[in-house]
Amino acid sequence: MHELRLAGAKAAEIMADHLEGIADRPVWQPVPGDELAWLTGQDLPADGRPLDALLDDARAHVLPYPMGNGHPRFFGWVNSPPNPAGVVIESLTAAFNPSCAGGDHAGPHLERTVVRWLADLVGFPHPPGGGLLTSGASMATVICLATARQQAALADGWDAREEGLAGRPPMVLYVTEEGHSCLHKAAQLLGIGSRNVRTVPVDAAYRMDVAALRVMVADDLAAGLRPFCVAGSAGTVNSGAVDPLDEIADVAAEFGLWFHVDGAYGALGVLADGAAPHYAGMERADSLALDPHKWLGVPVGCGCALLRDPAAARAAFSLVPSYLVDDNAGDLGWFSEYGPEQTRPFRALKTWATLSYLGRSGITRLVNHTAWLARRLAELVEEADDFELLSPVTTSITAFRHAPDVAGEAAELDALNRAIPVAVQRRGNAFLTGTRLGGRDALRACFLHPDTTEDDLRVLLDEIRLAAKHL
Ligand SMILES: Cc1ncc(COP(=O)(O)O)c(C=O)c1O
Repeated sequence: MHELRLAGAKAAEIMADHLEGIADRPVWQPVPGDELAWLTGQDLPADGRPLDALLDDARAHVLPYPMGNGHPRFFGWVNSPPNPAGVVIESLTAAFNPSCAGGDHAGPHLERTVVRWLADLVGFPHPPGGGLLTSGASMATVICLATARQQAALADGWDAREEGLAGRPPMVLYVTEEGHSCLHKAAQLLGIGSRNVRTVPVDAAYRMDVAALRVMVADDLAAGLRPFCVAGSAGTVNSGAVDPLDEIADVAAEFGLWFHVDGAYGALGVLADGAAPHYAGMERADSLALDPHKWLGVPVGCGCALLRDPAAARAAFSLVPSYLVDDNAGDLGWFSEYGPEQTRPFRALKTWATLSYLGRSGITRLVNHTAWLARRLAELVEEADDFELLSPVTTSITAFRHAPDVAGEAAELDALNRAIPVAVQRRGNAFLTGTRLGGRDALRACFLHPDTTEDDLRVLLDEIRLAAKHL
C-alpha cells in the first residue's frame, strides 16, 4: 500500500498540473513522429514496472497530446471538458471495481439513484427501474430500438428474440437526415436494414417535417410494411435542432409506433431559460437516450437509456442462466436483464459525483452559459459580412460558414469550408469541426466548456479568417 499512497499523491500532482496549464497550451497538436513511435511501438515489458515510472511515462508521453476537449477553445463535435468530480472519483471507481450487473452492493443501488436524477432533470417520467447507464448513446440507442422491435413483434403476436425477423413484414424506422448515425447503426445491427430506415424531410430549421412523416408511415402501411418506431432528436449533432416532439408523439400514438428521442447531446438543453417550449413532448417518448458524458462532463463512457416502461426492455433482454439466478434480486431483477452487457462497469459513481458536484443550479448555469455562447456566436456571425449563419440556435451549437467575397461560387465556398476545420485545428489556437448541412459544407461550434468566454468566440472567428487566408 505504501507504493499506492505515494503514487496516488504524485498522480494528484500530475492531474492538477495538467488541468491548471491547459488554457496556455495549444488546444491540439499532431503527435510528433518519435512520440507516435513510443505510443504505438512499445513491447510488452517482460517484468512489471513500478507505478512511479508509469506515471512519469504518462506525464511525458500521453498528457502532452490531448484530443483538445479540456481547452476552453475546443468547439469540435460534442466533447466536454473533464469535470473535477469525475477526475478524482475515477480512481475510487477503479479501487472499488465492482461489476454492476446487479446484486446487493453499492454500485447497482447508486445507479438507480443517478438514473432517477437524470430523468428528473429533463422531466422524463421515471417508474422504478426505468433506465440504465450505458457506454454512451450508441449503446442506449441499441437498447431502446431493440426494445421497440420486440414490442412491435409481441403486439403482432410473435417473438423477435425467438424467431428472428425472417419471413415477417420488414419493420420500418423513421428518422430525419439530421438523425445521428447511431440510429442507422442500431437499425443495421438489429436486422432492420438500412433500406427500411426512412429519411423524413426537415424544415428550414432542420426539424422533422411531421406532415411528411404521417404520409410516409401511411404509405408504408399500405405497402404491407411494419412501421415500428420514429426517432426524434432533442438536439441534433449538426445544428442542435430540436424536432417538434409533441407533434411526433401524436403521429406515434396515431399509428402505434414506438417514440424514441435522441437526447444524447441536447436533452439537458431543456434546462436553459426559455427553452422548455422547444422540448414539449419529450416527456411523451417511450424511450430517451441521454449522455451524461456530453453536456454534463461525466468522464467518457457514460450514456443513459431512459424507459417509460422498464418491463419492455426486460422483455427484450432478460436471459438469466442458472449461474446468475439471484433469488434476492427483488421485483426489478438485475441491470443485466435490461441490456446486452453482463459485466457492467460502475458508471454510477462518476455520474453521481459529477451531478452532486454541480447540483441542479450548477447544471442549469452550465447549460445557460453554453447556450448563451452559441447564441452570441450566432450574433457575431450575423454582424460580420464574411460569415453566414446556417441555422437558428436552439441548444449550444452554432452552425455557420465562412463566406468571404473572394470565393463567389457555391463549389468554391464548399471547398473552402471543408478545408477550414483542419487548418484551424493545426494552428492550435481553437478547434472546430465541420459538417454538411442543407447540402452545403458548414462549420459548427459546440459549446460545453464552463470557462469559454465571449473573447474566445472572437478568437475563433479570427482563427477561421487567418486559416482561410493561408489555404
Ligand atoms: C445527437 C447525438 N446522438 C447520439 C450520439 C452518439 O452517442 P455516443 O457517442 O455516446 O455513443 C451522439 C454523439 O455525439 C450525438 O451527438
